[in-house]
Order: sequence, then C-alpha cells, then structure tokens
Amino acid sequence: MKIVHIASELYPYMKTGGLADAVASLAGTLADRGHEIAVFLPGYRSALDHPHAKAAERVFRIRIELGNELMSGDVRVFSPRANLKVYLICREEFYDRRNPYGNGERDYEDNADRFIFFAKGVVETLRLADLQADVVHAHDWQASLVPLLLRDAERRHGLTLAMKTVFTIHNIAFQGIFPARVFPRTNLPDELNNIDGLEYYNQINLMKGGLLFADRVTTVSSRYAQEIQTPEFGCGLDGVVQTRADDIKGLLNGIDTAVWNPAVDALLPARYSAVNMAGKAVCRAQLLKSQGFDPKFAGPVYGMVCRLAEQKGIDLLLANADFFVRENCRFILLGSGERRYEEALQALAARAPQRVALCARHDETMSHLIEAGADFFIMPSLFEPCGLNQMYSQAYGTVPLVSRVGGLADTVTDADEDPANGTGLSFPPTAEGLADGLSRSLRLYADKARLAAVQQRGMEKDFSWTQAAAGYEQLYQDSL
Ligand code: ADP
Ligand code: GLC
Repeated sequence: MKIVHIASELYPYMKTGGLADAVASLAGTLADRGHEIAVFLPGYRSALDHPHAKAAERVFRIRIELGNELMSGDVRVFSPRANLKVYLICREEFYDRRNPYGNGERDYEDNADRFIFFAKGVVETLRLADLQADVVHAHDWQASLVPLLLRDAERRHGLTLAMKTVFTIHNIAFQGIFPARVFPRTNLPDELNNIDGLEYYNQINLMKGGLLFADRVTTVSSRYAQEIQTPEFGCGLDGVVQTRADDIKGLLNGIDTAVWNPAVDALLPARYSAVNMAGKAVCRAQLLKSQGFDPKFAGPVYGMVCRLAEQKGIDLLLANADFFVRENCRFILLGSGERRYEEALQALAARAPQRVALCARHDETMSHLIEAGADFFIMPSLFEPCGLNQMYSQAYGTVPLVSRVGGLADTVTDADEDPANGTGLSFPPTAEGLADGLSRSLRLYADKARLAAVQQRGMEKDFSWTQAAAGYEQLYQDSL
C-alpha cells in the first residue's frame, strides 16, 4: 500500500515526547513490511540540520493561501531507508525554531498559522507530487486538518488525492483550540464553521477536523479509546468522540526494539539480557555514580523520565516528597518542561541531596541509563494515552510503578494482585495511590526472589512494533 503519515514530530528529526517515537516506528515498520511510506514533518531547523536531510533535494516551491494572504514555502525530500521518504514542509518564519510548539512558558502566538500552513502544504504536495495515496494518516491536532483540507482540495480541483483517511489521537488534552477569527485562515467553506464542523464554544478546534472527517479514528491503547468517551478523560471532546464510537479503535503502540533493547543498547556502559543480568548491575552503579551517589548503594533506586507536565503526575510525586526524604532510597529524575515543576523538584533535591537528584534537561543517553540502572521506574500519570517508558522499563528489567490509566493499565499487570503474571505495581491516579505503590515497592524490593520473578516476566514480554503495525495494516485494509 501507499501510506502517507503526517505529524509534528518524527524521531530523530524532532522529538518532545512519544509521538516522535510512535510515528517513526510505525512508519519504519510499515516500510520494512514492503509498503511505500511517506512521512510529512514541518521543516524544523533540527530536521534540516540532521545529516540525513543534508542532501535533501528541494522538490517543490509551494504557494499557500491563508485567508487573503499568499505565503510561499519549500518542500524538501530525502529517503532515510528503503521504501521511506520524509517530506519537510519548509518556511523559515514558521519552523526555524528550537522548540516545535512554544517557548516553555507558553505556546507560540502564530501556532494556528504554522499548523494550518503545514496541513495545507501537505495537501498541496500530495497534489503536485501526484502521490496517489491509498491511505493518508494524520496524527494529533497539528495534522488534524489534513483529512478535511484534502477532501476540500479534491472537490475544488476535481481529482482524487487519497482513497481513505485515518486520524490518530495520541493525546486528546491538546486539541489546537484557537479564536474564531482563525477560521478564515483555513479557507474552508463557512458551513464547516458550526457545531458539526470546527466550531467549539465560539472558538475553533482543529482536532475536531480529524475526529469528524477522517474515515477511521484510532488512539494508542484500548483503554484510552474507552476513557476519552467519558467527561473525566475526554477533555471536552467526549461527546464528539462518542459520535465516532463505531469507528474508533485502540491500537497499542510498540517500542523500537532496535533502540530500546538492553542486549544491544550502545548507549549503556554494559549490556544484559534476561539470562544474564550482570550488565544491569554495572548500569546501576554507573547511574548512581553519575549523580554523585555511592555506586554500591544497596537500597532501592527509583528512576523517572518525562516531560514536566501535569499529565505526568508530578503533583502526585511532590505530594509524596516525604517518602524520598524519609526512606533509605535513591531517586533520579530526568525531565524538562514547565518551570514551576522544575523549581519544585529542584527544591525536593535540595531538601534531600544525598537521596534525590534532578537532571533538568532532555538527554537521550541519560534516559537509557535510567531505564537500565534503576530498580523501579515511577510513572504516576493522571492520564496516559499509551506511554512508552513503562514498556521500556519492563524490557530493561526495571519494575514500573504506574497509575492505572490508559496504556499503563493495558501494559502493566500488578504483581500483588496477580502474583503469577505481575510485571509491575499499579494504583489509582491519586497521591494516596502513589503512596501505596511506593510502600508496596519497598516490600517487593525486600523480597529478592519475587523481585527477580517480576523483572523476568517483564523482560519476556513482546512489545515490538510487529504486532502494532499488523493492526494498522488490517485497519487500512478494512477501510479500503
Ligand atoms: P509523552 O509522549 O506523553 O511524553 P511517552 O511515554 O509516550 O510520553 O513518551 C515519552 C518519550 O520521551 C520517551 O521516549 C521518553 O524516554 C522521552 N523523554 C521524555 N522526557 C525526556 C528527557 N528529559 N530526556 C530524554 N528523553 C525524554
Ligand atoms: C502522546 C501520549 C503518550 C503516547 C504518545 C505516543 O504523547 O501522551 O501516552 O505514548 O503520544 O502515542
């Protein structure tokens, strides 16, 4: 099949979170399975500077209408592997920035224009390049206008650009909501500016475009597919999601086992596997040493790697600060994001410098070292569409402590509730829930035989993309 993906992140060219990994792995796996894949990404500086893109050829000069303005851009293309092409929609004014969405404090003022231009640039390239896609697959709100703009362009030019469209929700908490005056920038017919279109409480909501107009809608775990149909998790779009209840499918992400596999991980000081765990102890010692802790420390080592955002349950963690001050443990957190959380965590590290270390940055190598070197990985998310780190953790023999939501609930079995199958500890997404998980982790740590069994079961699980990609293939086929 010819499949076109559209996303605002794609590893290794731009990444702030799991979206980048998920799109890269899905596209790569589908390419390996013989499909012809194109992925569209905004032409960020980090993408243009990447060695793969250095030789990118400029294939088209595009002129895009945004309301009454005509804006030009470039389309560059390169092929990082067989069957896979990456198209960069370039316009310096919009994408030559370090961060894709904002400056850490707030979103960029021109995000509506940036992502409307991106979506229109994609549709225009599909037309100019005559790609004749079987499936056009848009990810999250930054790409969610594509299904709508595509059909609109087809109508206007009297041609077919794609057989079917798919929209995947990676996170419904981000919807692309903008003031009503943004609507004319889409140049879509006025009848789409109502409750059955993009209109949303006197504003416009770009995610609605994907939700309402794609032929199929998916999200990244079964549990999340159910959750987002409820007011608690739907972030105001639960009613709209319900209208697609028959077409929405939860397809769990996999992990890239070439990158996230302790047996071959080149970013680690030592490698290991379920049959020989010696290397894990080397990684643990190295992790402790990197933070100035005694490498021979015998108590439990907790790790955490995440965006510093409310979603990740940082408030629940801070409510349990005393645990880390009181217990004889070590806690190493790698994260960047909201300043208020960075400051609060910095304060926690200052309260217990002999126990808690904060690495406030984005650091791929360090994220691998934490996954490998920690005994427990903490993920107390308030909601989690899929989550990748709990799967990395299980693959690395690091016991995940997760709240029982979304993909975390779908991928981690509680070892106390189900001793024969448990691979982690899970709890309700509350401060008390996390407190209970932490205290149960101490009991698990004290019982070395049980701990080893939990680790082994996690390492034996298959989280590869093969199964996930097969699920998407089936979905594409069914839709066609
Ligand atoms: P989300 O997409 O909501 O952030 P996921 O669990 O799906 O959550 O994916 C997060 C990804 O980003 C993981 O690959 C994780 O290792 C990575 N990550 C998050 N924060 C950092 C950081 N500070 N340094 C390195 N990697 C990070
Ligand atoms: C989003 C979600 C995360 C998911 C990722 C990839 O960023 O927050 O749970 O794993 O997308 O699908």
